Amino acid sequence: MKSYKIVTFGCQMNLADSGSLAAVLNARGFHPAETEVDADIVILNTCSVREKAEDRVFGRLGELYGMKKMQPGKKIAVVGCMSQRLGERILQRAPYVDIVLGTDRMLELPQYVDDGAFGAQVHTEFGYEEIDGLVPVRDNKFAAFLTIMRGCNQYCTYCIVPYVRSEERSYPLEKITFQVNQMVQDGVKEITLLGQNVNSYNDGRHDFADLLRAVARNTDIKRIRFMTSHPKDLSDRLIDVMATEPKMMAHLHLPMQSGSNRILRRMGRIYTYEHFLNLIHKMRAAVADIAISTDLIVGFCSETEEEFQMTLRAVEEIRFDSAFMFRYSPRQGTAAYRLPDDIPDNEKIRRLSRLINLQKRISFEKNQEELGKSRSVLVDGCSRRSQSVLKGKTGGNKTVLFTGPESLIGAIKTVRITSADAWTLHGELEN
Ligand code: SAH
Ligand code: SF4
Ligand code: F3S
Repeated sequence: MKSYKIVTFGCQMNLADSGSLAAVLNARGFHPAETEVDADIVILNTCSVREKAEDRVFGRLGELYGMKKMQPGKKIAVVGCMSQRLGERILQRAPYVDIVLGTDRMLELPQYVDDGAFGAQVHTEFGYEEIDGLVPVRDNKFAAFLTIMRGCNQYCTYCIVPYVRSEERSYPLEKITFQVNQMVQDGVKEITLLGQNVNSYNDGRHDFADLLRAVARNTDIKRIRFMTSHPKDLSDRLIDVMATEPKMMAHLHLPMQSGSNRILRRMGRIYTYEHFLNLIHKMRAAVADIAISTDLIVGFCSETEEEFQMTLRAVEEIRFDSAFMFRYSPRQGTAAYRLPDDIPDNEKIRRLSRLINLQKRISFEKNQEELGKSRSVLVDGCSRRSQSVLKGKTGGNKTVLFTGPESLIGAIKTVRITSADAWTLHGELEN
């Protein structure tokens, strides 16, 4: 058994975990396969955050079952958040799955393969052990994700993450700066520090602001980002680091979830809309041109039309650059699961599409404000459509397309923005 294919669902945290798993597999003599058909072992790294995410995984498993009937030696591993949540229940529903490994157990996969002890196993105990010295595999040669803390202690009432990712654990600051420098040696120019609650980072001696300063000053990385922040830990010190360290990119992802204080309270978000708005004002005052993105949920238990309108008004008032928007999906085991899921699906869909239309208009207008501006861009490849069109990300995390030679891939260049739609900027190379 030598070749593997990892299919990743869910968030950046999962992408980062898949990168670590790939590094472990490579170190153990496995090699990546192009497609699921070519792979001896197919690994699904899964997400549980909404029911739809889990349905997609079961759909994919059905396809793999078909493949496995034609290729009887093929092995299927299901790892990550859904394995953690469902454990044995995955085997009950998909008995052709060979192994189920939880979020903290997935790096052990090669050892079960080596033991030949494959076959309907489930391992979901918490307690993650990093394997030192491995540089995680990544798609993008120049931009990398690095997990700096695992887990979440927040228990927002709708959210499954704390149950599938366990309690917060932060890695020591020195280890993180060492890993960043290792990645720099490997060609990385931009790092995104990851955590479910990244700014509640605390290794016992340093908080998140300390960590950002250390990564900015004690490593040779060129650009620094982080996600996802919780409003409760958006401290003045953190804002100050954003404002004063030139390596910090002018982007903040700060989930608001709702514009109604009653709904926020029911969600267990522990801030009011007024507090959230104040944080946005402080951030914008400190960091000129900062791009701010968010997450929003519509149709949470008992959300009235008026409360939904409060979210619309909040989005109008704050004018986020972009937003991830979701219909509430009840998750068994969470506190909100005990409340009636009383907004009918068609109403959730109606609210979501109104919100998406509003945000699309604002994203478009925000992007028009970029016109004529010169932005620093990390060039990370060619556009999908054309070899002579390069693409990259601005500090505000917006994709820019512009004409230029392939030799610029990997460089940080200045691009003047000349046109924009709601999703993409177009520009001209300045130097
Ligand atoms: N740790 C991050 C993100 C967690 S999951 C944070 O705290 O913001 C990403 C987003 O999915 C959440 O911000 C929320 O908007 C959404 N989400 C989480 N649980 C959900 C559920 N049960 N139904 C719908 N959306 C949900
Ligand atoms: Fe979920 Fe809330 Fe934790 Fe984010 S902070 S992962 S939404 S419980
Ligand atoms: Fe999904 Fe797990 Fe991320 S539930 S959103 S993959 S932490």
